[in-house]
Amino acid sequence: MKSIQLGIVGAGNMASALVRGLIVSGRLSPAQIRVSDVSPAQCQTLQQAHGVQSADTTPALAAWANVVLVAVKPQVVPSILPDLAAAYRAEQLILSIAAGVATQVFAGALAPGARVVRAMPNTPALVLEGVTALAPGEHATEADLALARNIFDAVGATVVLDEPQMDAVTGLSGSGPAYVMLVVEALADGGVRMGLKRETALALAARTLYGSAKLLLESGEHPAALKDKVASPGGTTIAGLCALERHGARNAFIEAVTAATQRSSELGQR
Ligand SMILES: NC(=O)c1ccc[n+]([C@@H]2O[C@H](COP(=O)([O-])OP(=O)(O)OC[C@H]3O[C@@H](n4cnc5c(N)ncnc54)[C@H](OP(=O)(O)O)[C@@H]3O)[C@@H](O)[C@H]2O)c1
Repeated sequence: MKSIQLGIVGAGNMASALVRGLIVSGRLSPAQIRVSDVSPAQCQTLQQAHGVQSADTTPALAAWANVVLVAVKPQVVPSILPDLAAAYRAEQLILSIAAGVATQVFAGALAPGARVVRAMPNTPALVLEGVTALAPGEHATEADLALARNIFDAVGATVVLDEPQMDAVTGLSGSGPAYVMLVVEALADGGVRMGLKRETALALAARTLYGSAKLLLESGEHPAALKDKVASPGGTTIAGLCALERHGARNAFIEAVTAATQRSSELGQR
C-alpha cells in the first residue's frame, strides 16, 4: 500500500467513512489521500478531522492519484467523466461506489482497457462495520481486486462477486440496514405494547440484534441451529416464532430483497 496515492472524488458520508477507516487502521497515511468536492467545506471537514489534503478540482486530483475512488452520487457521475478521462493514465485504477453505475460506463469514457472495480458498501461502514461487495470490471486484475479489498476492509468486511450480482447485493446488504431498522423499531413497539419504556425497549431490541449477529458470525453455526437452541418445547420462543410465521415474516423479507433487487436493476437500465 506504500505506493498508493488515493484520490477521492466526492467528500461526503461514504468518503468520510473510508478516510477514517483507512487512517485509523493504518492502511494509508493522511499524505496518501486527497479529496475533492464541489463544496470546499466538505473537504475542510475531512482535512481537519484526518489531516488529508484536498485538491481544488477533479482534474488536479486525478492527475495526482494512481487510484481514483468515485464517491459522488450516481447522477453526478456523467459530469465528472470528462475530467477523469482528461487525466487518465493506463497505470491508474478506478474504484467506484456509485450505486448502479456499471464498470463499463467508466471504461467507455476513459479507455477501452481501463481497470475498474465497482464496490457496493452499506451504511454501517460509517461505524467501520459495513459489508462491501466488490465486482471487477473486464480488465481489472487480481492485484487490483486485492487492493480494493484492502481499502474496503478498512470499513468492515468485503466479498467479491460478478458484476451482474450487484443488483441483488443492493437489494440485500445495500438496502438491508433499512430493513433491520424497521425490525428494531417493530420489536421495540412490541416491548412498549407489553409495558416497557420506549428507551428500554429500543436498547433491548438493538442489542438483541447486534449480539445475535455477532453470535452468528463468531459461532459459524447455521442461523436455524441457533434459533432451535432457544426454542424449548412448549416455551415462549416457539410461541413467538409461530406468530412470526403466521404473519408471513420470512416471506416478507424474501419479497423485500426481491423488490429492491428489481428496482436496482430498473434504475441501472435508465
Ligand atoms: N450511503 C450509502 O449507504 C451508500 C451505500 C452504497 C453506495 N453508496 C454510493 O456512494 C456514493 C456517495 O454516497 P454518499 O452517501 O457518501 O453521498 P454524499 O454524502 O452526498 O457525498 C457525495 C459528495 O459529492 C459531492 N459532489 C457533488 N457533485 C460533485 C462533483 N461534481 N465533484 C465532486 N464532488 C461532488 C457532494 O456535494 P453536494 O452535497 O454539495 O452535492 C457530496 O459532498 C453514491 O454514489 C452512493 O450511491 C452509498
